[in-house]
Amino acid sequence: MIADVSEADHTDLAFEPAAKPVPAEERAKLLADPGFGRVFTDHMAIIEYDERQGWHDARITARHPFTMDPASPVLHYAQEIFEGMKAYRRPDGGAALFRPDANARRFAKSALRLAMPPLPEEMFLDSIRGLVRADREWIPETEDGSLYLRPFMIANGSFLGMRPSTEFIYAVIASSVGAYFKTDAPSVSLWVTREYVRAAPGGTGEAKCGGNYAGSLVAQAEAVRQGCDQVVFLDAIERRWVEELGGMNVFFVFADGSVQTPPLTGTILHGVTRDSLLTLARDMGLVVREEPYAIDQWRADAESGRLTEAFACGTAAVVTPIGRVKGTDGEFTIGGQSIGPTTMRLRSALVDIQRGHAPDPYGWIDRVV
Ligand code: COI
Repeated sequence: MIADVSEADHTDLAFEPAAKPVPAEERAKLLADPGFGRVFTDHMAIIEYDERQGWHDARITARHPFTMDPASPVLHYAQEIFEGMKAYRRPDGGAALFRPDANARRFAKSALRLAMPPLPEEMFLDSIRGLVRADREWIPETEDGSLYLRPFMIANGSFLGMRPSTEFIYAVIASSVGAYFKTDAPSVSLWVTREYVRAAPGGTGEAKCGGNYAGSLVAQAEAVRQGCDQVVFLDAIERRWVEELGGMNVFFVFADGSVQTPPLTGTILHGVTRDSLLTLARDMGLVVREEPYAIDQWRADAESGRLTEAFACGTAAVVTPIGRVKGTDGEFTIGGQSIGPTTMRLRSALVDIQRGHAPDPYGWIDRVV
């Protein structure tokens, strides 16, 4: 059966319903405790690209494995980008996305950096909205549950020459998720890697490409060996300035009530959550700085009490307090190692808008169902 779920004129988004969707009872069991990125829905979105046809064959179809040539360039040269965004259950039972236009824009920017054809914003939005509509039953109703959408684009074809591909597959998969961090602790711990860097000026640090994350895995594994939840990367030049965690941005909160986060200088991901929190903090009247912060200063400020809170933020991580920071030269703790008042205030303001418990004066909510 071919139907249309796009409800918008921009894309002819075909709908081929899954022949064997997961039965409702089984789905309910999976949704009770989904964890992060383990439970997948019945459908996926696909749009294909080649030089002759441009973007074509947009469809929502049953989730299925890809078949690709072993010489497909994504398998060799990692020409790949992705996004992360969430759909939330509304109090009235409907569903909404949070700032999907921001993800669409960032996806297009990442595409250009990786020598890929940008997907038009409306096609991106239609594919996401169409998938949420098709798989709306997969949005958990739990307090911290949501439907995590993972749009991605890969270079396809069959050649080993070092050049940008001319064939691409854009797809979106969806995963019912709960909290990203498995820990029951009220805060997470960080390992400061001195050996590895995530990004260097002129590199791909601000693009959301798989290679950035592949390159961070060995440092993340080191963090886990050190008994920490996440790795924190310093800048590549001076090895001094705090940049980003393995998969999320970082914020600092000071005793004088001000809030600080590293500036976007090309090596840091333009986090949508980061940007939203900056807006919320400014509108709360907090003093906000986008300025570099040195790791030694972080330690000194935590020890003197000048810094009272720190938190990680991202689509997956939401807002997660940081309680302990460990490095080769010892460790320090932050505040009471639990969520502080400013972190709590910012987190609630964000989550309440996302989940429809507070009005959205910013136009961030994209109602889908
Ligand atoms: C996200 O927060 O959406 C991300 O892409 C981070 C990823 C490591 C889960």
